[in-house]
Amino acid sequence: MISVSSALLLVAFGASGALSSPVAAPAVTPGPSLDNALQKRASCTFSGSAGASSASKSQASCATIVLSNVAVPSGTTLDLSDLEDGTHVIFEGTTSWGYKEWTGPLLQIKGKDITIEGASGSVLDPDGARWWDGEGGNGGKTKPKFFAAHDLTGTSSIVNLNIKNTPVQAVSINGCEGLTVTDMTIDNSAGDSAGGHNTDAFDIGSSSGITITGAKVYNQDDCVAVNSGTDITFSGGLCSGGHGLSIGSVGGRDDNTVENVTFKDSTVTKSVNGIRVKAVAGETGTIKGVTYSGITLSDISKYGILIEQNYDGGDLHGDPTSGVPITDFTVENISGSGGVESGGYNVVVVCGSGACSGWTWSGVTVTGGKDYGSCQNVPSVATCEV
Ligand SMILES: *[C@@H]1O[C@H](CO)[C@@H](O)[C@H](O)[C@H]1NC(C)=O
Ligand SMILES: *[C@@H]1O[C@H](CO)[C@@H](O)[C@H](O)[C@H]1NC(C)=O
Repeated sequence: MISVSSALLLVAFGASGALSSPVAAPAVTPGPSLDNALQKRASCTFSGSAGASSASKSQASCATIVLSNVAVPSGTTLDLSDLEDGTHVIFEGTTSWGYKEWTGPLLQIKGKDITIEGASGSVLDPDGARWWDGEGGNGGKTKPKFFAAHDLTGTSSIVNLNIKNTPVQAVSINGCEGLTVTDMTIDNSAGDSAGGHNTDAFDIGSSSGITITGAKVYNQDDCVAVNSGTDITFSGGLCSGGHGLSIGSVGGRDDNTVENVTFKDSTVTKSVNGIRVKAVAGETGTIKGVTYSGITLSDISKYGILIEQNYDGGDLHGDPTSGVPITDFTVENISGSGGVESGGYNVVVVCGSGACSGWTWSGVTVTGGKDYGSCQNVPSVATCEV
């Protein structure tokens, strides 16, 4: 209200000032409001230790937000969750965060038709080593989650973001409809020897129309975990050091539907698992229309391919159940000759009675490890003995 009335005062001033020259009056009157409109769509640059709070305060009035070497104070979120439709957010230089034990997130962005871009040479570096203690989310220091990419809708995109050393989980995609993530790097490789744990790269829930292409991930937990959602594609990716390409766990959450998810043309290396689908024993849900195609596996320590309906927080515990059926499931062109280490298992399928159907299974060459020997209810097209 205050800014509106002062704008009106300016108009009145301009108009009355122009009274002596009537010809100019019509041109002056719209001046201030036009100015105002232009200001609303301006490009705004924020930097330094005040940059995060200034950006949060001004976000709704900037068409483009440039975050240039912003140092986010400890215990605070770089919060861009009130953006106008169509806002362009650009990270330049190094974005850093102060240290505090708290749950985060360190970065939060939401809105419609939002473009989030990492400028050439930029890095988002929360310096996670300050929190790493080998315990991840299970204990020790309370660690802030990194990026809540929640409620991004329309045709939103995240391009060229370069993320380094997150304290715990990196990117949470939740409540998004229509989001493309292109050429994102998440490099937590320093955590391999320094206590990085539960550093999931992409956790996806309750989202649709998500496309992730060209991601490079070096971490210590799931490269991708789709807990729920539909119409999700991960392609052209590299996953190194973590737990592989996962569906689930599905069951026992608010949303227990996974439908039409494709992982294709990607590499999983130096990881605990290659491909893993986890249905929680005793729970209900749906895993339908999931495809793994053109995946290359190497240096897999535990399971090349693991499909289980007896997940209970740990893999392959107890009897499989049928409440989360895995249907219309495709596994094709999985190349991993010698890709599993000798102590691991090549292919494990443990299904509940009648709970795995409509499978396609072809071109699966995953060797180097052991046969599991306790597969159950394996659809006839598939086999645990490669
Ligand atoms: C999944 O894909 C199938 C085949 O294209 C389509 O019929 C179905 O509606 C999709 N499901 C969802 C939930 O979008
Ligand atoms: C599987 O791999 C073969 C040989 O590389 C290729 O010809 C075929 O198109 C692939 N199939 C799919 C579905 O990618």
